[in-house]
Amino acid sequence: KKKLVIDLDTGVDDAEAIMMALSDPNVEILGITCCHGNTSLENVLKNTLRVLKVCNRLDIPVYRGCSHPLLARQKHAGDYHGKDGLGDVPDPDAPGLELLQKEKAVHALIRMVKQNPGEVTLVATAPLTNLAVAVQLAPSFPKKLKALYIMGGNTESRGNTTVCGEFNFVADPEAAYIVLDRYTCPTYIATWEFSCRMSLPWSFCDEWLAQQTEKAAFMKKITSLSMTKAKSAEYQKEITAGKGFNSCDCYAMAAALDDTLITDSEEVAVTVELEGTYTRGMMVLDYMELLKKKHKAFIMKKVDLEKFKEMLMNALK
Ligand code: BDR
Repeated sequence: KKKLVIDLDTGVDDAEAIMMALSDPNVEILGITCCHGNTSLENVLKNTLRVLKVCNRLDIPVYRGCSHPLLARQKHAGDYHGKDGLGDVPDPDAPGLELLQKEKAVHALIRMVKQNPGEVTLVATAPLTNLAVAVQLAPSFPKKLKALYIMGGNTESRGNTTVCGEFNFVADPEAAYIVLDRYTCPTYIATWEFSCRMSLPWSFCDEWLAQQTEKAAFMKKITSLSMTKAKSAEYQKEITAGKGFNSCDCYAMAAALDDTLITDSEEVAVTVELEGTYTRGMMVLDYMELLKKKHKAFIMKKVDLEKFKEMLMNALK
């Protein structure tokens, strides 16, 4: 089985990504490490347990990670994901945080990778704070990763959080910089513009959520706010304009689960702008290799959309 560690900030699309991973019979999730991001760390922890409960998989270890970015001012994405990160739908039966592991996320991440050298695929769908701290503590551990899949960054200076910045990178630019610089394992990036271009038609979303399962009912509840938002006039200005729903984190997850999903990508050295009045947190692509980076990443350009939709459908079965 493919061994997976997921680092996330459970918002709506992170929830979708967890459910997608759980629906794959060829995958073993070693653990889930939580980070601040879409909402506060406390909410992220609670949301992660809620998703695992719906899937009957509270046996998967969940770890408490970093509650704040390295240097940046804290940012959440409550407008889109809801203040609680999962669409602000009350859940009186949410599992309690006593179910969390005692070990902290960063230590767990390093341990899980060291115990399974060359075998762990790490999927990162949050600000990259946990990953950055891990490499500071254990500089050589990324060499032991099989691969790293990131949802974050942008390729055409189109932002969703600042004029030029994508949320995960803007929420902790220093962490993104460190990770892109020091994780020398094969790295695949699902950027903001890419995920917009691959967005899902609304007709598919209706079919997806109409499945008669407990998981689909849960998904319908938690996505209601973000889907309404995505259909709003404000979002019409985005690249997604009129095209559909963008489940960003699922592209990174699906690519990690299925090696044949990416049908086009480009290998290029990347870094992150740490200053700039408008550009702090923006991903920078070094096509000319002027920065002499030792490592390049695969920037995802296209995926097999039919396969992707099938994976989403299966996630709610
Ligand atoms: C990313 O930011 C978050 O709001 C989403 O969960 C996704 O990880 C998109 O920019």
